[in-house]
Amino acid sequence: MNHKPLQALSIKPMRLYDMMFIRRIDQTNESQWPLRYYIKSLSSPHFYPYVARLGDTCVGSMMFRLIMPVMHIDKILIDKSYRRRGIGGKLFEKSIGIAKKKGALQAFLAVSVSNKYAVNFYSKYGFRIESIQRNYYATNDDGLKMVRFL
Ligand SMILES: CC(C)(COP(=O)(O)OP(=O)(O)OC[C@H]1O[C@@H](n2cnc3c(N)ncnc32)[C@H](O)[C@@H]1OP(=O)(O)O)[C@@H](O)C(=O)NCCC(=O)NCCS
Repeated sequence: MNHKPLQALSIKPMRLYDMMFIRRIDQTNESQWPLRYYIKSLSSPHFYPYVARLGDTCVGSMMFRLIMPVMHIDKILIDKSYRRRGIGGKLFEKSIGIAKKKGALQAFLAVSVSNKYAVNFYSKYGFRIESIQRNYYATNDDGLKMVRFL
C-alpha cells in the first residue's frame, strides 16, 4: 500500500487526465459504472464531478447533480487501498459545501441496504433514511433513500 501523507490531499474538479485512475478504481469496486458516464459528466452542465488527489494521483471521485434546490448525490468512490483514512469524508464535505454555496437546500441519495459501510458513512454526515424502495437495484437489492438538509 502506498500511503502518501494526507497533507498532499486536494479536492478538485475532475479532468480527463483522471480517467485512467478512475477506471482502475472503478474496476476493483464491487459494482462498476461505464467509463463513458464519467467522461460525459465532464462536459455536461448538469453534473458536478470532483476528485480527491494525492499529489497527481486520483484516489477517489464523487459526482452530484443540482436540480435546485436539491443536490442529488450519484456516486462517491474511494480507491480500496486508501479507504478509512478520512478521504471520502473530505471529498464529501467539500462537495456538499460547493452545492450549498450554489444554493442547494437539501441533499438526496440512494444506497443499497446491503452496503452497510456506505450507510454508516452517509449517517455520519447527517443523512437520515427517508424511505425504503423495494427491488430498487438491478440485483433486486432494496434501496434506501437518504436525505439531509444543508
Ligand atoms: C463509502 C466510502 C466512500 C467511504 O470512504 P472512506 O474514505 O473510506 O471514508 P472515511 O475514511 O472518510 O470514513 C468516514 C466514516 O464513514 C464510515 N465508514 C467508512 N468506511 C467504513 C467501514 N468499512 N466500516 C464501517 N464504517 C465505515 C465511518 O463512520 C467513518 O468514520 P470513522 O472513521 O470516524 O469511523 C468507501 O468505503 C467506498 O468507496 N466504498 C465503495 C463505494 C460505495 O459504496 N460508495 C457509496 C455508494 S455510491
